[in-house]
Amino acid sequence: MKEYEIRVKVKEYANKSELPADEQQLLQKSEEATRTSYAPYSNFNVGVAILLENGEIIRGSNQENSASPSGLCAERVAMFYANAQYPNVAIIALAVSSSINGILNSKPIYPCGSCRQSLLENEQRFGKSIKVIMGSTDHIQAVNSIKDLLPLSFDLDDYK
Ligand code: THU
Repeated sequence: MKEYEIRVKVKEYANKSELPADEQQLLQKSEEATRTSYAPYSNFNVGVAILLENGEIIRGSNQENSASPSGLCAERVAMFYANAQYPNVAIIALAVSSSINGILNSKPIYPCGSCRQSLLENEQRFGKSIKVIMGSTDHIQAVNSIKDLLPLSFDLDDYK
């Protein structure tokens, strides 16, 4: 038997002003995007801003439905929209924020498992790492790649 640890690097910023300027701007846009969320069931509003390699910024927010699996997280709303509009342009960064009743949360928001899997495939598809910036009013965390959010991930190509 062998046992080993898998380490990931997580950056932590005490506040927004510690972030590089372009990431501050992206995070700000994700905060604004929480206002476009449709979340009457959870009352949890999530906003995402995606930076594409061509400099374009795409926003998204969670869109719920009374038949709950029919709704979608903010990350996938933004990512699928970006891919549909710009099918040949890689995503290079994604910022995510959350709020309740219009007040930004003080704990960073972490993408769910399904979004991690979807975003991982996007990294593989374009061969580009996606930086993820997870915001809150208290502190901000960031990873350099979706792989850091999804160790031991499934990749069909590994079995070919
Ligand atoms: N949600 C997101 O949009 N992104 C996340 O990273 C976590 C959760 C949404 C799904 C649902 O609409 C609400 O937040 C509560 O789970």
